[in-house]
Amino acid sequence: MKPTANIADLRLRAQRRLPRAIFDFVDGGAQDETTLRANRDEFHRIALAPRVLRDVSQRDQSTTLLGETLASPLIIAPTGMAGLVRRNGETMLARAAAEADIGYCLSMMSACTIEDVKHASHRPFWFQLYLLRNRAINLALMERAWAVGCRTLVLTVDTKQQGLRERDLRNGFTVPPRITLRNALDVVRRPRWLADVAFGPRITFANLAGQMIGADDIVSVARLAAEQYDATSSFDAIDWCKQHWAGAVAIKGILTANDARLAVERGADALIVSNHGGRQLDGTPASVAALPAVVDAVEGRAQVVLDSGIRRGGDVLKALALGARACMTGRPFLYGLAADGEAGVREAIAILRSEIDLGLVLMGVDQVQALDRSALAWA
Ligand code: FNR
Repeated sequence: MKPTANIADLRLRAQRRLPRAIFDFVDGGAQDETTLRANRDEFHRIALAPRVLRDVSQRDQSTTLLGETLASPLIIAPTGMAGLVRRNGETMLARAAAEADIGYCLSMMSACTIEDVKHASHRPFWFQLYLLRNRAINLALMERAWAVGCRTLVLTVDTKQQGLRERDLRNGFTVPPRITLRNALDVVRRPRWLADVAFGPRITFANLAGQMIGADDIVSVARLAAEQYDATSSFDAIDWCKQHWAGAVAIKGILTANDARLAVERGADALIVSNHGGRQLDGTPASVAALPAVVDAVEGRAQVVLDSGIRRGGDVLKALALGARACMTGRPFLYGLAADGEAGVREAIAILRSEIDLGLVLMGVDQVQALDRSALAWA
């Protein structure tokens, strides 16, 4: 096997390890995947302005975010069903993040429970919520998260229904995955995945077991979202979160200056500029294209995090130069998880870290917190 140089190489290793339906669930976006591609294209369009003849012998990529110190400006994004990629995937993601002293956000749609993740990780993690029609379930989850030490609640607001993921439709993707005549050949060619994920206790939405779905259901995630997510919610939901959560509240899925202002007026502590990795509304701009307007609208009243499309350390530097305090990313760590379990997640973190460090050297900047728009060359 060729050595792994970057996240794109990890993606190829993931593709070889995972059945097609699982790889596509991770890798794919909504509809024509224009937003998925835009997330990458836009980073390619932004150019860096290097400064030469500066002392960069000591570099510091640490930052502070919502009262925490991160050794690198990275947070592992909430990804539901990481357990389909690797059994106990969420605990591996959390442990690798804790070891590297970066952030980890657990999705409420995880295959491990909140408590499992707490046992695996010595570092406090964040907890992500979708608003359900039955708010009592949300409240119970928030209480469990608080009890294990989560202090930042991430409310994802771009998912009143699931975007149309056409790869998932074609593959007949369900949780837990079904092995059928159509996909059997593909699945048996991935014996390691088969032994790890398909055999043994069935994978399901562990935090919601017994509350939302019968233990024996095979669930289309899109149908579950359509039936259970709250399509009526408004900005009042931020007040509701602030009432029931004593820690920080971050709003994930903001893409416009106007929504950013409304969220800040309701007391959001952080905004996560995100198009959900191109998995929700196809046709939105790249998150990084929406970032400067959000940063300007917020005027320092909340911290801003950039999510979607990060594949290089240089992308992180560009987002920070545009005013983000840190970046969230999902797929790079899932590719690592698929390729080599926890060691693969560590590898993904190490790749991004070393690219950030090299970027700083070549940019002539000795700390990420010093980056601002002067670090960018506008064409
Ligand atoms: C996600 N994402 C997501 N977001 C969220 O708030 N709750 C969730 O349960 C999930 N689930 C999920 C599953 C999978 C397989 C992926 C790939 C993504 C979106 C995620 O948090 C993040 O916004 C994107 O992954 C960012 O895009 P990149 O970094 O993957 O390009």
